[in-house]
Amino acid sequence: MRRSTVIGTGFYVPPDIWTNEDMAKLMDTSDEWIQERTGIKQRHIAEEGIGCADLAKVAAEQAIADAGMTNQDIDMIIFATLIPDVFFPGSACVLQSKMPFGTIPALDIRQQCTGFIYAMAIADRFIRTGWCDNILVVGSEVHSAGLDFTTRGRDVAVLFGDGAGAVVMVSTENENEGVLDFTLHAEGEHYDKLLIPAPYGYVRGRITHEMIDNAEHYPKMDGRAVFRHAVPRFCECISEVLEKTGYSIEDVDLFIPHQANDRITNMVGERMGLPAEKVVSNIASYGNTTAATIPICICESRQDGRLKKDSLLLLAAFGSGFTWASLLMRWSI
Ligand code: ACO
Repeated sequence: MRRSTVIGTGFYVPPDIWTNEDMAKLMDTSDEWIQERTGIKQRHIAEEGIGCADLAKVAAEQAIADAGMTNQDIDMIIFATLIPDVFFPGSACVLQSKMPFGTIPALDIRQQCTGFIYAMAIADRFIRTGWCDNILVVGSEVHSAGLDFTTRGRDVAVLFGDGAGAVVMVSTENENEGVLDFTLHAEGEHYDKLLIPAPYGYVRGRITHEMIDNAEHYPKMDGRAVFRHAVPRFCECISEVLEKTGYSIEDVDLFIPHQANDRITNMVGERMGLPAEKVVSNIASYGNTTAATIPICICESRQDGRLKKDSLLLLAAFGSGFTWASLLMRWSI
């Protein structure tokens, strides 16, 4: 039976690093506060003028080369991002303007922290049905352009970092590799618990001076509500995908959760009975890179040897929307 698998990966983070001490020079915060509550020590920050498609280009080039392919082999782009380069069109099109891909379809996914799993799930279904063979799946974020780096915005600004990751998904007939199944969920009644309100789609002129004065163009988060929902939703969707595929938690070789907060990651690992050595955490180095987090973790886990051919890999994420999702796959490279 035709299914999908990953044969190439890549990631890129901008070189500039802002430590927690650097943040404390901009706002009333401290390394101790940030590390204790989140596990974050530093984040990478893009230069002004660099957008998420620029970061994605580097990650995509690596992933395509790693797959032993050229751009011409790719027959669709799926781009997950929370903030596209421009209000419209989507960043998949912007990426196409930076890399020659011909006229293949280019699709944006706006599912925030869950975006990369939604994107992989969509790629899997396009491949399984035979509509496509080789899909470039990208997650990329430049948060820093839109964070309030003053004490007013400290509850959110310390959490996020910039970065991009990409995978090439291809068709396979080998039933011992690739995506086994996934779960996708959303509960839109909580959409206002984590959002950037402005520019508004339903306000004449979209943005006003008053909105800017009220900081409505910066992210707003009810951190406690996010925390409260995240842990059970992570656990539910992990159990669901294991049940769908007939595997148990003991069968999982590596768990890559979206990196929102080490406390969330640790609670999920403990509740699910996963030993710490099977749970990937890189939030200390990058902060929350949203749609880029999972592919960055995938790349680093391959580099450090934790993710290898035949590993049973579990992905799960929770984020703004609220959205949450999981995916189980047999890694094939
Ligand atoms: N530095 C210092 N003090 C701060 C900072 C900061 N950066 N931010 C907030 N504070 C202050 C607050 O003003 C508050 O002060 P007060 O008691 O005088 O009013 C105090 O710290 C406690 O604030 P809380 O919001 O109650 O802190 P909490 O312990 O809940 O931790 C946090 C906040 C880390 C955001 C937590 O709620 C959390 O982890 N939530 C999950 C949210 C998350 O991970 N979001 C990421 C995006 S969504 C996703 O990826 C799933």
